[in-house]
Amino acid sequence: MTRPRHLLGVEGMAPDELHALLDLAESFRDISRRPIKKVPTLRGRTVFTLFFEDSTRTRVSFEIAAKRLSADTVHLGKSGSSASKGETLLDTARNLEAMRPDIVVVRHSSAGAPHFLARRIGVSVVNAGDGQHEHPTQALLDLLTIREHKKVLDSSLTVAIVGDVAHSRVARSNIFAMRALGVNVRVAGPRTLLPPYVESLGVTAFERLEPALEGADVVMALRVQKERQDQAFFPNGREYARRFGLSLARLAYAKPDVIVMHPGPMNRGIEISPDVADGGHSVILDQVENGVAVRMAVLYSCIGGEAHAGATSDEAGAARAGGAA
Ligand code: CP
Repeated sequence: MTRPRHLLGVEGMAPDELHALLDLAESFRDISRRPIKKVPTLRGRTVFTLFFEDSTRTRVSFEIAAKRLSADTVHLGKSGSSASKGETLLDTARNLEAMRPDIVVVRHSSAGAPHFLARRIGVSVVNAGDGQHEHPTQALLDLLTIREHKKVLDSSLTVAIVGDVAHSRVARSNIFAMRALGVNVRVAGPRTLLPPYVESLGVTAFERLEPALEGADVVMALRVQKERQDQAFFPNGREYARRFGLSLARLAYAKPDVIVMHPGPMNRGIEISPDVADGGHSVILDQVENGVAVRMAVLYSCIGGEAHAGATSDEAGAARAGGAA
């Protein structure tokens, strides 16, 4: 029996693995731009989405990705499942495994929950965000968006990741992936929201936004994660916006062709001003579009990557190069 392939994180992924997944995602993005947005590539396969934390983008885009590849999908959330009656994550997963899905996509508030399941069930597990640890498909869609706009992903690029870095799995996954590719990464935010170890990840840390934004090619604003903050890390939202919000005035420190990213959901008027979120530099909705393509590539790679007779030759060629962790 072949071992299931998982995508648990981007930490440790090599540049050629990252680029292969992005190449595959690019070919799948074309499918979503056609009038008929469906190929039979994963017909007969079953994808379960287990979301024990709220989500709009990740949950919907995994479901759309699976459906565009013709897989059957089943969704389970915390409130509608027996987790609310006290069933453990492992019991839930083992019961679902008995129904023979091909992939289980998991979002959980505990760091390591997808890794725990991957060691115990014989099904491919994809991490859709685990606590403050990793959000690998978000990092991949962010890389795809940067590559689409900047044409490169290497040491010629400077990316500033600004805001609540301490609580952000999006920041961690992006830092791992970008550093592997040689991209220069700066992080900036209030001292209380910068992890003490952050420079050991190969980034430069700033306690003010302006020097971090100086000459940046890409600015990624992070959500202030109130649900993960167990103490007052800053006085109030207005004070945060005044000192650390991404405004048009602050964005002027970056390169004239800077792109602005945000993983969503946004706190408009706190970490990002509406005129930046909706302005000409924003690629936030491109990120969402690329999320579907990246998740198609990840589902396809985890299931085995063999080209279906109905797949296009582009998909088949890209799939041969693709691979998940
Ligand atoms: N970016 C992201 O993970 O958004 P959701 O929480 O809506 O899935």
